This record gives sequence, C-alpha cells and structure tokens, in this order.
Amino acid sequence: MRSLKFKNNKLFYLDQTKLPGKELWRNCATIKSGWKAIKNLKVRGAPLIGVFAAYCICIHLDKLSKKKNVFLRQLKQSLKYLESARPTAVNLFWALDRLGKVSLQSRQKEVKQIKKNIVKEAKLIHQQDIITCKHIADYGVNLVKKNETILTHCNTGFLASSGQGTALGIIFKTKKQGKNPTVYIDETRPLLQGARLTAWELNKKKIKSFLITDNSAAFLMQNKQIDKILVGADRITASGDTANKIGTYNLAILAKYHNIPFYVAAPLSTFDLSLKKGSDIVIEKRGQKEVKKVLGQALICPKETKAANFAFDVTPSKLIKAIVTDKGVIYPPYEKNIKKLIK
Ligand code: MRU
Repeated sequence: MRSLKFKNNKLFYLDQTKLPGKELWRNCATIKSGWKAIKNLKVRGAPLIGVFAAYCICIHLDKLSKKKNVFLRQLKQSLKYLESARPTAVNLFWALDRLGKVSLQSRQKEVKQIKKNIVKEAKLIHQQDIITCKHIADYGVNLVKKNETILTHCNTGFLASSGQGTALGIIFKTKKQGKNPTVYIDETRPLLQGARLTAWELNKKKIKSFLITDNSAAFLMQNKQIDKILVGADRITASGDTANKIGTYNLAILAKYHNIPFYVAAPLSTFDLSLKKGSDIVIEKRGQKEVKKVLGQALICPKETKAANFAFDVTPSKLIKAIVTDKGVIYPPYEKNIKKLIK
C-alpha cells in the first residue's frame, strides 16, 4: 500500500481527505499545491509530510533560476515556505533541512548537479522511511502478546508514512505473526483520522477492530478491555516528552490510572533533541470550522459559538512505558537513554 508516488519528476498523492469514500490520486504540480495539501491534511502524518515536502522541492527545482547564487537563494526560500505549512511534526523540518544541507554541500557544483543531488537525497529520505517503518515493526512486535487488545489514536499506518507506518505497522506485524490482535480505534475528533483512515487500513488488512468515540476510552480501560495503548508521535524532545494528535495525553493519563502500558512508536527523525521539554514544542492551532462542522458539513453548534482547535497535545515522558524506534526500544530514564541511542 502506498500513499505517494514520485516518478519522472512527477509527484502523486492519495488525497486523504476523501477517504474512506474515494481513493483519489492527485498530481501535485506546484510547490503551492504541495503546501496546501500539507496544510489541509490531504497529505498528513509526521513521516509522510517529510517525504512529501522533499518531493515538493524536487518538482519545483526547474522553476528556479539557472544562475547559481539566485538558485540557492530561491531554494532556501522554497524550503522555508514549505516549513510554514504545519508547525508541530518535526519530520517536515528534518527532511527539508536534509535538502538544505545537500545544497550547501554541493554549492561549488553547477546548478544542474545541485538539482540532481537534491532529488537523490529526496529519494533517499523516501527509501529510508520505508525501511525505518519495517524496523519499528520488528522491534515493536515483541511487545505484543497473543490475543491482546490494543487501543490506538489517530492514524499511524501506511497513510501516515511511506512504509507500513509506526504504531499501526507494529499491529500489522503482530497480525502477520499470527498473534491475532484486536484493535480499538479512537475516532479522533475533529478530523476523524481514526474513523476514516485507521479503520480503513485495518479493514484492508483484515484485522479485527472496533471504532469507538474518543470518550469511550476510560470506560473500556475500567472494564479491562484494553491490554495496551500504542500511538505515534509528531515530535519527541530530548526528555522523551511526546507531541501527538490531540487526545493522546488523555489516553496516557487514563493508562496510568488503570495500570495499562502506554507505548509510543516513532522513527528517530521524529526526535528533536534541540528541545528539552514538552512545553518547548509549538502546538498547531487550526481553524474553528473543523470543530464546529463535522467534516466541513453539518454544523453541530450555534453558528456564533467560538471553538478552540488545538491539533496536538504533549504527553509527559513519565507516562510513557517505552518508545519504539527504528534503532530499538527506549525505556526510562529517557534523557539518558535517548542520548545513548541517538549519538
Ligand atoms: O494531524 P495529523 O493527522 O497529521 O496528525 C497525525 C498524528 O498525530 C500521528 O499520530 C503522527 O503523525 C504519527 S504518524 C506515524
């Protein structure tokens, strides 16, 4: 399963706002339409937006000047422009930063060669993301026992990455190993990534799952119907504090109260060691309409009502049992062990 394609310098993506109703592939022909696709969550999920943004730069290269100093300046502006699409998932910044570094390293070369190096790096980021997902699943699968029931939030599968995903990738692998997982899916208000995307992916993989409203989690935990919680991440600080889809923190607190292990799965590209603690993470605020209208359609409150729409929250590391990465599983003390793993 794929969520984007890059071929002959053409970029295509599966429009996630149309799922599960329609599998609509779109051509991203300009950097502006790429920016909008990220902003409007047509392309979403931390690892995927990094890869997609890198390819958005590739399709834009021929529109830049042939004069090297102008080319380099315009390239820098383009990288900055794409960074501005969404603030929280660090993978976006990480991927664009890699392209920026490549352009600096090859600045003595001709423009043609710099362009080639950038495209090569974007393809490498893409390939690495696929492999990274595989490694996360390899490590994470050992944490899941036979016949366990897992609660997950938002969408962390092949729609959110260029491989099999992070938290969902682990679940796919447990199914492959015959461990017979059952998944409870938080619908994930307001944009319903759980209901629309995770339910769709689990259906495709024939994994037994139940869609629940976000406010059902406590009840299920109280009634001993959840064995573990597995979520993804958009940015993890040096102390292990983790930003993920709004509502993740609720789950972590509930998990602590009910003594249920709470796991985060993320590639090393999701770690931002320049930030010490969770409160340093910029949390994306989105428009009121997303909360007031279900999927842009039915208004569910008086039209004068004001809404607050924070897209992410931060789970303090002390609520996290372990973080599954592509280089191994990190346990507390996080500050020390994260440093050890990411040298
Ligand atoms: O706003 P979204 O849909 O991009 O948020 C995505 C999430 O919060 C995911 O859990 C996270 O990016 C991990 S994706 C493997």
